[in-house]
Amino acid sequence: MSLLTLSEVTRTVIPPDQPALTILSGVDLTIEPGDHVSIVGRSGSGKSTLLNMLGLLDLPTSGEITFDDRPVKAYSAARRDRLRGAAIGFVFQQFNLLPGRTALENVTMPLLYSTGRTFWRRKRIAAEMLELVGLGHRLSSMPDRLSGGEQQRVAIARSLVRGPRLILADEPTGALDLDTGQSVMELIDEVAVRTGAAQVTITHDPTIARRARRHFRLDRGVLTPVDDPSLEPLTRRDRRQVTPDAEGSGAADSPDADADSTLERLGLRDQSTSSSDAPPVSTERTDS
Ligand SMILES: Nc1ncnc2c1ncn2[C@@H]1O[C@H](COP(=O)(O)OP(=O)(O)OP(=O)(O)O)[C@@H](O)[C@H]1O
Ligand SMILES: [Mg+2]
Repeated sequence: MSLLTLSEVTRTVIPPDQPALTILSGVDLTIEPGDHVSIVGRSGSGKSTLLNMLGLLDLPTSGEITFDDRPVKAYSAARRDRLRGAAIGFVFQQFNLLPGRTALENVTMPLLYSTGRTFWRRKRIAAEMLELVGLGHRLSSMPDRLSGGEQQRVAIARSLVRGPRLILADEPTGALDLDTGQSVMELIDEVAVRTGAAQVTITHDPTIARRARRHFRLDRGVLTPVDDPSLEPLTRRDRRQVTPDAEGSGAADSPDADADSTLERLGLRDQSTSSSDAPPVSTERTDS
């Protein structure tokens, strides 16, 4: 049984007053349980759009997506949300931790949607997850007191705390130095192997891509298998760190803008705290 399949997936958008734009065309991809796949591609090639399909955030314009061999288009949006929450963990370039909340509160957040025993044990489960990523001693630290690598570890703990069967990572090491990036990838690999989760990593970095078992390249919305991503020619723009104010990168297609809208849809961002100087909001109930 396959975990996730995309067959002939196409995604077309019609921007206002502009001709239709095909972002993905004829994408075929099968993800098996425990699989490890990397996707490289230049900026604007459709990687985040594809990740949104894999994460059941968007439906294709044509073609079919199945999860556990069942077509997801038959599901209601609410059922897709539940499936995503229970089965898929997202890791982004920007760690997107809620400012003004401790590491423990950030990791506890996804468990607020759980029920029964998991809900009542949520703080202990989150603390164990932080322990697993090597931050058992920083439970009550605020994100701005943590290094970039530590913040990404908290973000990973938050992504994995519900035990996803699929981990989707979009430039997970993009904001980290080389060594920290490698150790963060090792951590994701370790958790994935331990839990049997499948992993799809989208990256500009051939060294990160090579960690996967199977490699693909996305070029203008067309996905093709490649043997060795380190042999794939990348343009200078591919290698460049794209930041919101980098030339030529408009806010609408910046990684931040991608992640912001995705996070809101994932329920991992309070609109009231989307700016770092917004006051902290505490909705956490105390259970002892
Ligand atoms: N809703 C939309 N409306 C119009 N154009 C869109 C929309 N979503 C994506 N695009 C365009 O489709 C192309 C692919 O976008 P996408 O965000 O998937 O690229 P990407 O490969 O993730 O790029 P990057 O590496 O810079 O993050 C871009 O040119 C983008 O501007
Ligand atoms: Mg992107």
